[in-house]
Amino acid sequence: MQTDSGYQLVRLNNGICSVRSLADDETFHPVVGPVAEAEALYVNQLKLRERLQNHAGEFVIWDVGLGAAANALTVLRATRDIACNIRLVSFDHTLEPLEFALKNADALGYFGGHDNHLKEFLRAHRVQFQDGNQSVNWEFHLADFPTLIANSKLKIQNSKLAPAPHAILFDAFSAAKNPAMWTLPLFKNLFQLLDPQRPCALPTYSRSTILRVTLLLAGFFVGVGHATGEKEETTIASNDLSFMSEPLNRRWLERAKRSHSAEPMIEPIYRTAPLSAGSLEKLLAHPQFTGT
Ligand SMILES: C[S@@+](CC[C@H](N)C(=O)[O-])C[C@H]1O[C@@H](n2cnc3c(N)ncnc32)[C@H](O)[C@@H]1O
Repeated sequence: MQTDSGYQLVRLNNGICSVRSLADDETFHPVVGPVAEAEALYVNQLKLRERLQNHAGEFVIWDVGLGAAANALTVLRATRDIACNIRLVSFDHTLEPLEFALKNADALGYFGGHDNHLKEFLRAHRVQFQDGNQSVNWEFHLADFPTLIANSKLKIQNSKLAPAPHAILFDAFSAAKNPAMWTLPLFKNLFQLLDPQRPCALPTYSRSTILRVTLLLAGFFVGVGHATGEKEETTIASNDLSFMSEPLNRRWLERAKRSHSAEPMIEPIYRTAPLSAGSLEKLLAHPQFTGT
């Protein structure tokens, strides 16, 4: 399988190709492959087709961890027949996986005729195009995401950097490998960038207790997310409780109290610890559990 600039194509057991980062020692979509995972986790779970059909004006999607663009391209392909106006805002601290993926577009099979758009995107960090009825305005922010959102809160709120999202595709490497992307300060900053008047949902592949506690303490409502083929359960977070069909309940809270890994990471250093008394007190006061 082809290797280039720290990335490698790997063939999964089902015959589908995915990208692997050699430096991070992680495969981007390791079990069912990029398209099936993105469809289950984002397109179907977020009811993107339905929402876009009923949405007037720009629909803003933040794509955190652009990587090889499988999530972004799967979302575009799944909604290309809908008359809609998508503003896609991608974040990553490198474009190397996308450059690698584009060279291997045929083997990966999810570029859907967007090869030239992505060449322009790589060159200019933005591209605008019309695909059938779908109008796409796609921009890229090359930065360390935790630093970017910590430093540019005001700019984003003033819509100078990016408008508040309706949906967030959150796809960092695992917390053990990539702790900086899973800390409580990061999710607090992210939550503060949402527009309280604009319901927004963030699905992600992990179902860990530590992630769920982190999202709750950052201010999100948190629920059990759909299975993806790889995971029988994922997580969905939102500023609107009505987004989730199965909000975490008091029984989950009882389990979290007994967990050995529930206390959020404050620093970007991976470690596990049971829930502290202070965090438990904040969880008990969260509107998701008090019903306020
Ligand atoms: C699992 S991959 C994303 C796969 C991608 N969503 C796709 O569909 O191909 C995780 C991505 O997070 C990015 N990443 C990791 N740490 C980051 C950071 N601190 N700031 C910005 N991006 C980061 C990595 O460069 C990598 O591309």
